[in-house]
Amino acid sequence: MENKKAIVTGGNRGIGKGIVLGLIEQGYTVLATCRNISNFDYSHAKLSLANLDISDASSVENFQKTVSEFEPNILINNAGITKDNLFLRMSDEDWENVINTNLNGVFKITKLVVKGMLKKRWGRIINISSVSGSMGNPGQTNYSASKAGVDALTRSLAKELGSRNITVNSIAPGFIETDMTEGVIDQQILDKIPLKRAGKPEDIASLVNFLSSEESNYITGQTLVVDGGLFMK
Ligand SMILES: NC(=O)c1ccc[n+]([C@@H]2O[C@H](COP(=O)([O-])OP(=O)(O)OC[C@H]3O[C@@H](n4cnc5c(N)ncnc54)[C@H](OP(=O)(O)O)[C@@H]3O)[C@@H](O)[C@H]2O)c1
Repeated sequence: MENKKAIVTGGNRGIGKGIVLGLIEQGYTVLATCRNISNFDYSHAKLSLANLDISDASSVENFQKTVSEFEPNILINNAGITKDNLFLRMSDEDWENVINTNLNGVFKITKLVVKGMLKKRWGRIINISSVSGSMGNPGQTNYSASKAGVDALTRSLAKELGSRNITVNSIAPGFIETDMTEGVIDQQILDKIPLKRAGKPEDIASLVNFLSSEESNYITGQTLVVDGGLFMK
């Protein structure tokens, strides 16, 4: 595919920043988003930025025009949040915020890009889910439900879009060093990881590069785990 153009949500920091830098290094043109683009601390000639709150209907609606002009053929649904608490202490608000951002957000942003991909009969949709969606995690009923939902959406959408040469996969990271896991990754957790270290955003970015490329042509509907061996089926 000539003219490879990728949208990365939540591209200003953490895993998203690693993904943006990885794609740029491979020669892709990238449109990266976050809630306020003044929070980007880097720039590049091949990078453009847009404000987008994936949990907010009017922000998503405004983003439609940007998508139409950019004409992406690759989408990385990376933006996500946690609001952890034990089940009985979890507020309705924390449940709804996490589902609305992590699951409904993926639905809404994917809807904006699919039409263009269908027309071109080529596309790559890569959703960043989590091992928490497959193995569960105490304190994360909202988060694991949202990520399991993303994996399920991935499989059904892959079946809908496969005949048009559009692949849909999710990547399920384990513990990756970012703001999200600050103060969370302790020795007890590291002991459970066969590779004995937390992951880095680059560990996710390298798989995104592969899934975005022609080399991954025959892979769709999968959840690929990148976790140092923490979760094995
Ligand atoms: N770190 C891990 O160990 C880990 C493990 C498994 C899965 N993941 C998943 O990987 C993805 C990235 O996580 P991370 O660790 O890089 O997290 P992070 O450092 O907390 O960054 C989160 C990113 O998501 C964006 N975001 C959050 N809510 C948003 C919203 N409503 N609208 C638009 N953008 C929003 C943030 O933008 P703002 O700056 O605007 O807030 C930020 O760019 C998430 O989906 C997360 O669930 C992470």
